[in-house]
Amino acid sequence: MNDLLLNKVHDESRQGEAYAPDVVTGDYSRRFYIESYGCQMNFSDSEIIASILQEEGYGATRIVEEADLVLLNTCSIREKAEQTVRKRLGEFRHLKQKKPGMLVGMLGCMAERLKSQLLEEEKLVDLVVGPDAYRTLPSLISQADDGQKAVNVLLSREETYADIAPVRLNTNGITAFVSIMRGCNNMCAFCVVPFTRGRERSRDAYSIVAECRDLAEKGYREVTLLGQNVDSYYWQHPETGENVTFAMLLDRVARISPLLRVRFSTSHPKDITDEVLFTMAAHENICKYIHLPVQSGSTRILQLMNRTYTREWYLAKVKRIREIMPDCGISSDIIAGFCTETEEDHRDTVDVMEKSAYDFSYMFMYSERPGTLAARRYVDDVPADVKKRRLEEIVATQNRLSLESNQKDIGKTFRVLIEGDSKRSKQDWMGRNSQYKVVVFPKMDRQLQPGDYVDVQIHSCTQGTLLGNLIG
Ligand code: SAH
Ligand code: SF4
Ligand code: F3S
Repeated sequence: MNDLLLNKVHDESRQGEAYAPDVVTGDYSRRFYIESYGCQMNFSDSEIIASILQEEGYGATRIVEEADLVLLNTCSIREKAEQTVRKRLGEFRHLKQKKPGMLVGMLGCMAERLKSQLLEEEKLVDLVVGPDAYRTLPSLISQADDGQKAVNVLLSREETYADIAPVRLNTNGITAFVSIMRGCNNMCAFCVVPFTRGRERSRDAYSIVAECRDLAEKGYREVTLLGQNVDSYYWQHPETGENVTFAMLLDRVARISPLLRVRFSTSHPKDITDEVLFTMAAHENICKYIHLPVQSGSTRILQLMNRTYTREWYLAKVKRIREIMPDCGISSDIIAGFCTETEEDHRDTVDVMEKSAYDFSYMFMYSERPGTLAARRYVDDVPADVKKRRLEEIVATQNRLSLESNQKDIGKTFRVLIEGDSKRSKQDWMGRNSQYKVVVFPKMDRQLQPGDYVDVQIHSCTQGTLLGNLIG
């Protein structure tokens, strides 16, 4: 997740970012350029891809004109996300004319969804590679070098890239993402992810702990464990038969170092257990923050969405979280205008937002995705202007809730991990508290640096930021 997106109207995917290590070292004969779209899983996959390419003797570059291999790691979650990528692809046309040997690859969820059809639709594309096929990139590249278009979109039941050490891209050296599982078995009616990412599988617990330990040893201070549905993480040792649940994994990662903060995303409300909540409560360094997407506040719509919980069940879960961890931050994802949604359903959504008192939310207009349960069974019948108005009401509600939540923090003191300069001023540090809120405070003349923990007392706030002063 990305603070730039907080409380913004989400009808398009996060902008692509050029991604390359800060220093390009070594004598690489060829260079790759990669842009990532969509969720953190995709950004994390780009770090695996970079690792595979580096092994093959490719250096990374941030300058697309320098690249021999241009890769787009794409997202299909909403139609706009795909349109953004297609537009970007068009911008590479003149580049390829100037440099005919340059290869263009489409990776990720759009590659998986459209398969070889992408080659027909986008003449520029030489490679189409799905999320479980990145190990075959080297052979696909040599095939494309020989002038043959190359496609591998096979999904796997086992692939977790557990043994590949990611090359950290665009890193601040403080926070990192660690993928703990792939795919999703949930089949929410609106969602394309089960089709683009395949079946759920959990990564070897020992390789996860080893990766987190390595990050801690390199000076990282925060890891975010990633999966579409982290609470259903379940790994069995192939020889000893030892079982590891998500709560056990969290516990192991938390024990690496008290200086290493642990976060995770995303939790499905149906799967988060008391065991996970008690594990969070037991460790100071497991951040008190849960992203718990509700999607809709209407039980009827939730049923159509195949979310498998009711509004009451969801609200009881929120209550349980606050019972066990009174200071826990909670955020959500919300879809406006799903098939058949009435004004009453919409009011139920706003009501659940109020009752849950979210600290922030990611909010979207429903976008029908080909092949999903909803596309096959229901009619996308809420008019665009109605979707838009409902989304605006949802955003306005969240903006007020975010401000109220921040106002309650005035006067409190938080432990903050410094991430870097504030965007507004080099005289100020920016960091986050355990609840994932952005905290900005003057540097004063203290000798501090990113990665340090400090105590900050909050004196004021905006809707998106807590402002305070160093204490102690
Ligand atoms: N696995 C995560 C979500 C992954 S997708 C989870 O279960 O919460 C991120 C968010 O995109 C979803 O939570 C949902 O709110 C939104 N989303 C997914 N499909 C969508 C669609 N077809 N239209 C609009 N929003 C969608
Ligand atoms: Fe999509 Fe549902 Fe899986 Fe999340 S849990 S990725 S919304 S199918
Ligand atoms: Fe998008 Fe694929 Fe992630 S569809 S949200 S990049 S899993």
